Order: sequence, then C-alpha cells, then structure tokens
Amino acid sequence: MKKFITTPIYYVNDVPHIGHAYTTIIADTMARYYRLRGFDTYFLTGTDEHGQKIEEAAKSRGKNPKEYADEVSAKFKNLWDEFEISYDHFIRTTDDYHKITAQNAFLKMYEKGDIYKGEYEGNYCVSCESFFPQNQLVDDEFCPDCGKKTRIVKEESYFFKLSSYQDKLLKWYESDKCILPKGKKNEVVSFVKGGLKDLSITRTSFEWGIKLPAKLNEPKHVMYVWLDALVNYISALGYSRDNAKMDYWNDTLHLVGKDILRFHAVYWPAFLMSLELPLPTSIAAHGWWTRDGKKMSKSIGNVVNPKEVADAYGLEAFRYFLLREVPFGQDGDFSQRALIDRINSELSNDLGNLLSRIVGMSSKYSNYEINKENVAKFYSAELEEAKSHINSSLEALNEVATNRYLEEIWKVLNIANASIAKYEPWNLIKEGKTDEANALVALVANLLAKVAVILSPAMPKTSAKIAGTLGFSIDTNLFNKIVLESKLLSFKSQATEPLFTKIESELMAVPGTKEEIKEEPKDPEIKIDDFKKCVIKVGTILECSNIEGSDKLLKFKIDLGEANPRQIISGIAKYYDPQTLVGKQVCVLANLKPAKIFKHLSEGMILSGEDGSLTLLSTMAPVKNGAIVG
Ligand code: ME8
Ligand code: MG
Repeated sequence: MKKFITTPIYYVNDVPHIGHAYTTIIADTMARYYRLRGFDTYFLTGTDEHGQKIEEAAKSRGKNPKEYADEVSAKFKNLWDEFEISYDHFIRTTDDYHKITAQNAFLKMYEKGDIYKGEYEGNYCVSCESFFPQNQLVDDEFCPDCGKKTRIVKEESYFFKLSSYQDKLLKWYESDKCILPKGKKNEVVSFVKGGLKDLSITRTSFEWGIKLPAKLNEPKHVMYVWLDALVNYISALGYSRDNAKMDYWNDTLHLVGKDILRFHAVYWPAFLMSLELPLPTSIAAHGWWTRDGKKMSKSIGNVVNPKEVADAYGLEAFRYFLLREVPFGQDGDFSQRALIDRINSELSNDLGNLLSRIVGMSSKYSNYEINKENVAKFYSAELEEAKSHINSSLEALNEVATNRYLEEIWKVLNIANASIAKYEPWNLIKEGKTDEANALVALVANLLAKVAVILSPAMPKTSAKIAGTLGFSIDTNLFNKIVLESKLLSFKSQATEPLFTKIESELMAVPGTKEEIKEEPKDPEIKIDDFKKCVIKVGTILECSNIEGSDKLLKFKIDLGEANPRQIISGIAKYYDPQTLVGKQVCVLANLKPAKIFKHLSEGMILSGEDGSLTLLSTMAPVKNGAIVG
C-alpha cells in the first residue's frame, strides 16, 4: 500500500509563518498516520520560485531571482528540519529535473491538442498569480480573491483547453472524497458550472519562468507559474523521466489552504486528465489563520512566527493547538491565551496528570507492575465506550478532520479520568478489593496506551514519552494489536517527570503580542487646497434601478444642476431598495474620473457613512441641485 502526501509549495516572496506551519504540520500528521498504519508513504514539500511576483520581489531587494529564491527557500527547509517535519523530499521549482518534467508535460498536452496559441487580453493579479476576466473584478480593477489592484495584460499566449474538461470535472466531483471537507465541494462545483474559459498558460512580458519545450521554438514565452507549480507533484515522482516513484501517484492526498483550492480542484485535475494520469484521491482545504482577531500582515507587525511559538511553548503543544483549535476547513484565530488554556487543561491536566496518576497508583499498589488480567471482567463498559471513540477518531483522521480526531481522543482520556474518580481505587484497596483496584489501573493504563498510539502522528514526542514510561513502543504491529484489534497490554511502568507544566502568563513578549502591535496607520493630513480638489455637489436622484447580474450594484440618474443628469453606479444594493431613493437628495463626488463598472459608465461617486452598515449622506435641509459641499 502506497500513499502520497503533499503540501503546497510555498512562494519564496515571504518567510514562513503560522499559516505555512499549519498546512505542513497537518501534512506531517497525515504522513505519520499513514506510516503508522503500514502504508509506504511519500511526503513531499518544497518551494515555488518562478513567476512575476518572485521576479519583482527579488528586484525590489536588489537581488537576482535565483539568489533570492535560494535564501528564502532555505528558510522554509531549515524551519521544517527544526520542526522535525518528516518529509521525504523538498522540491524547488528551480531544480533542473523539475524543469524537464514541466517541459515534457507541456509538450504532451500540446501534442494531444489541448494547447493552442492565441492572445490574452484581460486583468492579472500578480499577488495571486491569477488571471481574471473583467466581469469578475471588484470595482472594475481589484482582485476578487485578495483585493489588490490588478494589471491589464495584453500579450501573445498559449492557452490550455480548460473549457473542454468542464463535464469531466463535474463527473469527477461526484466521487466521494475528492474534495475535503465535503462542504467545500459545492463552491468548486458551482464555479465550474458557471462555465470554464480556456486558461492562458504562458507569459511573454517577463523572463523568470520555465521556458517552453525547445520543439516549440518560442524563446519569448515562459510557462505560467501555476502550471509550473502544480506539475511539481509529479516531477518529484520522476514523471516522464524515469517514473521511478510514480507508483505513489495512485493514492494521493493534497493539503492546501482554501485560497488555492480552485487551482488544485479545477486546473490541476484538468491538466492531469490531459496527461492521462489518475486524479488525486483527495484535495483537503483548510481555513485561514488570523492573529488576535486581525488579519496577519507585515505592516501591522502581527505575523505569528512559528519558531517563536514553538520555542516559547514547545513544539508539541504548538502542533496540538493548531490541529485542535479549529474545525478543519474553517478559519481560526491564534492567541497566546487560547494556547495557554489548552496546554493547562487538556495537555497538563487531562493527559499529563493521567500518566502521573497511573505511575503513582501502580507504584503504590503493585510495585509498578500493571496487569491486564481482570480488566475485561470489571470494566467492559468503559472498554466498549472507549472503542467507539477510537473508531470515530480514526474515521475523522481519514477525512483530515484533525480537530475531531483529537476531540475523540480526549473523550477516551475523559473516560479514563472519570473512571478513577468514579471507582476511587484508594477506597477499593482499603476495602480489600485489590483485584478491582489493580484492574482499574490496568484499564486506565490501557486507555492511555491506545491514546498514545493514535495521538503519535500529531504529537510524536509526547506519545513516545508515554510509551517509554509504560514500557512499550509504538509501531504498526502495536497499532494493529491495541487499536484495530482492541487487545489489552500489561505494563511495567516507571517514575517520570510531568509531561507538561502549567503556564501562568503569556510567554512571548516579542513583536506581535497585543501590547506591541503597532498603531493602525493614522489618516494622512492634507492641506485645504488638497480638499478643494474634490468637488462635492448635492443632487436629486431621478432614477434608480438594480443592475442585472449583480446583487451589489445600483444604477442612478442624478440631477446635479447640470445640462444632463449624471449616471452613477454604486455598490449599495444591499442597503437600499432602489424605489425608496427616487426624489432624495444626496452628496456626490462630482469630479471623480469616469470609470466603467460592470460595463456601465459611472460619472461620480455617491457619498455615504459606513460603520458596518451604510447610510447615504444628505444635507439637513433641501438645497438647489448642484450646491457645492465644502
Ligand atoms: O499559494 N492561514 O504559495 P503561498 C492558513 N505557491 N494558511 C495559510 C495562511 C494563513 N494565514 N497563509 C498561508 C502559493 N497559508 C503557491 C502554491 S502549490 C502547487 C503552489 C498556507 O506561499 C496555505 O496552505 O502563497 C496556503 O494555501 C498556502 O500557505 C499558500 O502559500
Ligand atoms: Mg499566497
């Protein structure tokens, strides 16, 4: 049985932060899980180093792109090494073998007739490295995904016939686990049902990318960075070279953030179909991390550095927190407080104290010997209940529901802790019920042993410590025996240090903690002359209607005291019913450069007050149309 697990390859324009650590730690957990189950597992991560964004990032630092990529790529690799991420290979898209596979793949799709030459005209978001047709832009020029300003691109380009894969993709989405969590599938399906345009897959306006296959003789073109990047998954396996590891491709799990689900769930399977390769088993997309409720950004200075957190709180606690804190697929917030709470109650109390109590009781009652003999006789109900949670935990992990996986494990710990409180072994001893007391210790030790085995993919060091203390070791045989076959063990325990110590107060007093978050930038001051450049007039709304195909926009005709009424498009349909506005006076920024919004000319901007809701500005008493606001 082979299993292939991947992370996205991260762009080298940014240093690793908590979001990258999150994806990589989930992938690491899944890889360790499949190894534990006895799968021959190949775990791939790496860096994405070509494209306009990297070329520009390097330039702005006065470096050549390769030199710059070398530096940042090493930061990712070093961090994963420090975190003992169990990757089998770290791929860089600037590696020569990858370039060969990318060119071979391009040629194969070309020769199949899936690639043709044309001209691309439209908008491009450099930050997302993504093309957008005009009607998808926000306010005519901003990226619908990241909100940054797009650029207009008009250049010769090769296209991939994405449109011809629409039906095949829709068919594939019918398979059970292709997109996880399953709820995310709907978004992808409706995107594809909305119609797929052919995809521009080469660029000519910059140089930092993989050249097209020599056979095409197109020295001006470089490959679109997303084609280059997606192909990494098979170039790491030797595709079209020696194909040495392509066996792993038959059962693939891609982990991604929700920001790049479309590229993985639409473009990538279409490329794979064109290459006549099997499609991945699952693409699992997680949500977005924020910091203390705010989006992380360099300018606010609140980016969470994963190394700092691991140094302060311990790597295992950090891994636990990331996997447990948010339901897989949903967004989550990082705060030291939430991390500390989980360490104190779940790791230190529920898990750590349980181990200490088992060691304490076994030393007192039975000279550290823990015998399974009477467990089933006295405590079969507890064993049964634990078994059902163990099964649910594994089912959750099979669907990458990392939080549910851990929650179910903690239910097993709760059974163990609750049974100590319920049966009070110290009283059983006093009453002379030594068998029952010893069997109780053996029950909880066995529950903890099962927990340690299932928890080991998420917290390998902690699990190994528990196993060491109880005198067993974790491997596939043991997994089969005590998890799948529900067998019990006898143990010889030994004295040990507490697994976790409680934490009183926040340990990271470095940039990024609440106190030190820089003030939000102040509004820039302007002179009165600057203000005078804005011509704001009062006018009466003559007509107002919805715009077909948009649930945001309203179209206005407004009398500003000029020869003809102005047409203005405004994104306020959510707040007003158009009929109620006719006849009202509003304030309009009258000398705003006209622009096309959703194909309609807009000659000005209607002013409003916003505090989460929105209300239009007007004067306190009626004035003549065209009156100047100042
Ligand atoms: O998109 N919260 O690379 P990238 C959660 N090179 N996850 C986050 C995150 C956050 N705040 N920020 C980043 C690229 N991530 C392409 C991928 S793959 C063939 C090419 C994680 O450096 C998350 O996994 O922008 C997201 O999908 C990924 O980093 C994006 O990394
Ligand atoms: Mg990104």
